[in-house]
Amino acid sequence: MRSMTETNLNHAYAGESMAHMRYLIYANVAESEGMPNVAKLFRSIAFAEQVHATNHYRALGSIKKTVQNLQVAIDGETYEVEEMYPAYRAVAELQNERVAQRYTDWALQAEKIHASMYQKAKQEAESDKDVELGDVYVCEVCGYTVEGSAPDKCPVCGAPQRRFRQF
Ligand code: FE2
Ligand code: FE2
Ligand code: FE2
Repeated sequence: MRSMTETNLNHAYAGESMAHMRYLIYANVAESEGMPNVAKLFRSIAFAEQVHATNHYRALGSIKKTVQNLQVAIDGETYEVEEMYPAYRAVAELQNERVAQRYTDWALQAEKIHASMYQKAKQEAESDKDVELGDVYVCEVCGYTVEGSAPDKCPVCGAPQRRFRQF
């Protein structure tokens, strides 16, 4: 692919991905304000943006087989754990940005678990096997992720068990 087109598609992929996420967040806000149709509008258009993002990502040749996708996921989570979040958290601390400090720390805790869950899945995928996986629970406050059962209290943010979403 010509390099200008590749750059453009990368930007389009990033922009559509962010719009997708932004609309899902806005849908939840509309829901909580008692506007279910606005929520529906945000969710439908969020899906359309996902379609656009997927098409751009495919055009970039970035959609591979699961075993390779898992490696990309492991690399991304590991980068966040080893470089990105420790650095961001340190800057937040230096600048006394308490909220940024808390949220970067919460993310850092979860990304460690994500990296190891993906690692286990990749080991199986290497021999064309699906991973053994029980119920996965995610804390809707901080993103702490755990397989098996939800704890009474989130070990990262202290949220109660009812704040865990089951997958
Ligand atoms: Fe779009
Ligand atoms: Fe993650
Ligand atoms: Fe939590």
